Amino acid sequence: MVKVSAPGKLLLMGEHAVVYGQPCIVTAVDQRLSVTVEKSKGYKSIINSPQVHDTRFIDAAIGVAKKAWGTDGGIRITTQGQLNGYGFGSSSAVTVATLKALSMLYEKVVGQRELFELSYRAVLSVQGVGSGFDVAAAVWGGTVYYTGSRKTAEPLAVGTIPLVVGYTGVKADTVELVRDVGRKREAYPEKVDRIMQGVGKLVASGKEALLSQNWERLGKLMDFNQEYLRDLGVSTQKLEDLISAAKRAGAWGAKLSGAGGGDCMIALAKSDKREEISKAIQQAGGQALDVRPNAEGVRIEL
Ligand code: PMV
Repeated sequence: MVKVSAPGKLLLMGEHAVVYGQPCIVTAVDQRLSVTVEKSKGYKSIINSPQVHDTRFIDAAIGVAKKAWGTDGGIRITTQGQLNGYGFGSSSAVTVATLKALSMLYEKVVGQRELFELSYRAVLSVQGVGSGFDVAAAVWGGTVYYTGSRKTAEPLAVGTIPLVVGYTGVKADTVELVRDVGRKREAYPEKVDRIMQGVGKLVASGKEALLSQNWERLGKLMDFNQEYLRDLGVSTQKLEDLISAAKRAGAWGAKLSGAGGGDCMIALAKSDKREEISKAIQQAGGQALDVRPNAEGVRIEL
């Protein structure tokens, strides 16, 4: 029996633009999903996954593993964890954890790059769209500068990131939002491409600000990123309410995190402002979440 866990993620900057080849910055969060695998009799795989109702990702991971390593036979898979629908990326976490666990079960030596590629293949086979940033966060953990064009993951040596996270209470449909932006780009290619390039530049500056821990500057860059996301039409009134509330309460900057349409917003704030900002988020109808960034990537639990 093998048990492996992988972290969820939060996008700090660069959503949507990363789908069109630009870089993004993603951090792994301390909410994890675990997968236990063992061989079972027969050829059928048995999946017991109360947390991840959508078992297509687990099925896809099993399919990719069998094809890559020429293995067959039944597997019993059980998931445990706390990625409770806040948009922290349960699909990528469960895919990465399953493939890592299966590599252990079949005694295959698989490096991080290969694990990323196999997992990304599995995710794409289910979703059809996606830059792979969430898969990179689950594999490498920490905080990663991920490029949408070459799919490279550069771990960034950052300590703590002073992040406050607010959940809108609305579940976002990432695939639909990505398709929506795609349609907008077809209709207005110049406008949308200009936005994507602008976001890419902000992300590059954001990386420098993050590495030098210049939070005030990073906050400002996040604000600019949010303006572009608003222009793309992926923000909502609820996200805007939480973002404004956080900023009024003294955040250095705030933006939506992920595809938009709901899920979470993030704010950057001095430690003595955190409580006030969390309160402001609650008062604006959001739920302040206690999540820590920069968490460890996929790991073996037993
Ligand atoms: O909704 P999330 O947290 O999975 O983020 C989606 C981010 C996008 O850039 C819109 C899509 C992608 O795969 O990069």
